[in-house]
Amino acid sequence: MKTYHIVTFGCQMNERDSETLAGMLEDMGYGYCPQFKEADVCVLNTCSVRENADKRFYGVLGQLKNPHEQNPGRIVCVCGCMMQQQIHIDKLKAKYPWVDLVFGTHNLHDFPRLFRNAADQHEKIVEVWKDGEPIAEGLPAKREYPFKAYVSIMQGCNNFCTYCIVPYTRGRERSRAPEKVLEEVRCLAAAGTKEIMLLGQNVNSYAGISDGSEGSPFSGKTGFAQLLKEIDKVEGIERIRFMTSHPKDISDDIIECFGSLQHLCRQIHLPVQAGSDRVLKRMNRHYDSAHYLSIVEKLRKACPDIAISTDIIVGFPGETEEDFMSTLDLVRKVRYDSAFTFIYSVRHGTPAEKYEDQVPEEVKHERFNRLVEEIHRIQEEKSAAFQDAVLPVLVEGPSKTDDKILTGRTESNKTVDFPGDQSLIGKIVPVRIVKAQTFSLYGKLI
Ligand code: SAH
Ligand code: SF4
Ligand code: F3S
Repeated sequence: MKTYHIVTFGCQMNERDSETLAGMLEDMGYGYCPQFKEADVCVLNTCSVRENADKRFYGVLGQLKNPHEQNPGRIVCVCGCMMQQQIHIDKLKAKYPWVDLVFGTHNLHDFPRLFRNAADQHEKIVEVWKDGEPIAEGLPAKREYPFKAYVSIMQGCNNFCTYCIVPYTRGRERSRAPEKVLEEVRCLAAAGTKEIMLLGQNVNSYAGISDGSEGSPFSGKTGFAQLLKEIDKVEGIERIRFMTSHPKDISDDIIECFGSLQHLCRQIHLPVQAGSDRVLKRMNRHYDSAHYLSIVEKLRKACPDIAISTDIIVGFPGETEEDFMSTLDLVRKVRYDSAFTFIYSVRHGTPAEKYEDQVPEEVKHERFNRLVEEIHRIQEEKSAAFQDAVLPVLVEGPSKTDDKILTGRTESNKTVDFPGDQSLIGKIVPVRIVKAQTFSLYGKLI
């Protein structure tokens, strides 16, 4: 049997796309090969959100030096967000002529046809569409886990935050019909999936148009809160999560879901990006820190123990020490359970690329370190509160370092390690926390 391996960079949307690519390859008769360099088909699904992601892709691609010499039948495919930018297509053509197939985020559904052409004709194919059509339905998927799954509810982004490449690589917002989402969730539940993560660049602006199918609980336009309420009723789904939420679009209706829906995890990822109103304005985020804090307050009122995580960028052009102090101040006020912190990275073609007041590298790094220190200090304090608590944990698998130890996640998305038998994988079990560390918890099955 011929084999394939997919390397995925970037966010959950890309991971979900790779599951579709894997499903398509398996339908075409290819089997999974754990070693990237030994596979007959190598697919690289790229991300362009920061310079580092671009660099990592070229690093991995470089490892495939002369791929056809090692294996004459090998097919190398590159897709994803980087390929929506001409600059990278040109670079591939010039420096990596042995890449067989290049396609983009908008024609992923056409992969089987493109792939067969590349395989049969042995000629290089580059086919990238500029923008997306309505989302293709009914594509296969090889899911990574049987017990938890990503469900994409929309594609694209309309927000054009001035630092961000995503609107250029993923096109405009398109929502799936709510019936299609519900059908996918029901199928997953029937197959034993316990946890689903609803995906979109900004799920709060979900606006699915009903396809009018018989017996549908939806009609006309459906908002995100309504979609959540229907998904909550699907039997077998015990945990619902979603990401990402844009603060400007989170409605009171959505906030209330945290208090009222039985299966919605008490956890939200709510990227703030910065604490300074001046910086937020220049980022084109459409909210200020007071509004953000008011959302946090409402969330905690609806659901007092909700875990809140965020994304923060330091060193955005023009960020002064005072602006940065506002970010630290906001972090102290919210007291995040966790946070992803990023050093601002100039993205070609975005408005912020042209801002003249870029922050020097050493200043960015120094602020980054101070921010991370503060976040970790708070995280440590918050984590300590879990000591001796009994938490339901969805068991994901054996720990990487010891197969007698299982690893799983709490409702708040914290990792818990505990000794246990592998037969528990995929189940939700009660675990007493005996050691609460900053980034993970250690417990005992009860
Ligand atoms: N749609 C999501 C985020 C997608 S990108 C949202 O709006 O929240 C994930 C994160 O990468 C962003 O939240 C942001 O913090 C970070 N990011 C995006 N562009 C960046 C850039 N040019 N430099 C540094 N970080 C960036
Ligand atoms: Fe990027 Fe902003 Fe869209 Fe998120 S909302 S993907 S940060 S442009
Ligand atoms: Fe990266 Fe594209 Fe996601 S740029 S973060 S893979 S949408």
